[in-house]
Formats: sequence, C-alpha cells, structure tokens
Amino acid sequence: GAPLEVDLTPIQEGQIITVFWRGKLIFVRNRTDKEVKDSEAVQLSDLIDPAPDSARVKEGHAKWLVVYGNCTHLGCVPIGHSGQYDGWSCPCHGSVFDSAGRVRRGPAPTNLPIPPYAFTSDTKIRIG
Ligand code: FES
Repeated sequence: GAPLEVDLTPIQEGQIITVFWRGKLIFVRNRTDKEVKDSEAVQLSDLIDPAPDSARVKEGHAKWLVVYGNCTHLGCVPIGHSGQYDGWSCPCHGSVFDSAGRVRRGPAPTNLPIPPYAFTSDTKIRIG
C-alpha cells in the first residue's frame, strides 16, 4: 500500500485519533506533558516488555505516539484513556497498556507495535 500522510495539527493535546494503513488500525496520540513525564519515569524492571519511552517515539517528538491499534493478545481494539496507566485497556481479556503503548498487564505478551513512520515536518507524519 501507499504511504499515508497524517496532518497532526487538528489533534488536540490528550487526543487519540485512529487511521488505517494497509488495512491496519493505527492510533496517533498527542500525549500531554504529564503523560510523557510519567512514561519517561517508569522503571524498565516494572515492564513486561521492557522499552524506555524514548524507544517508543521519535527523537524531538516525544509528545507523539504512533502504534498499531490491535491488542497483542488476540487482536481486539483497546479502549483509549482507560486502565491504570493513562493508556489503553483491552475490553476482551483485560490487558492494560500505558501511554507509550507498553503492556502493563497481560495476557497481552508484548507492547503495541510501532509502524514504520517518519516526521516530514513538525506537524506531519508519513506512515509507511
Ligand atoms: Fe486484548 Fe485478549 S485480545 S486481552
């Protein structure tokens, strides 16, 4: 499939939008400063699938999280802004993800994957 351009300017701070690329659901989230700070402060030893916040975002664009939107357990769509960690929770079997899309409670075994994307300007990304 062709790359997908996403204009970030309409996405309010705290808002999550969904887009589709190659038939896959993707969440684009404008994280608040508090969400970023809290996520950066998490100890790797507290994580099921350890990854620092910095490995989940692009350098210089820590506000923006771009992740595939299907639970890594059996593929349900997690609900945004729910669960204990300001992230997502899965309605199917209760997995919980944080604001960096990292799994914090199973049965999901791994973090929400990050699709290939790049910033083409400060307000635009290209997925794919
Ligand atoms: Fe999400 Fe099972 S599909 S917890």
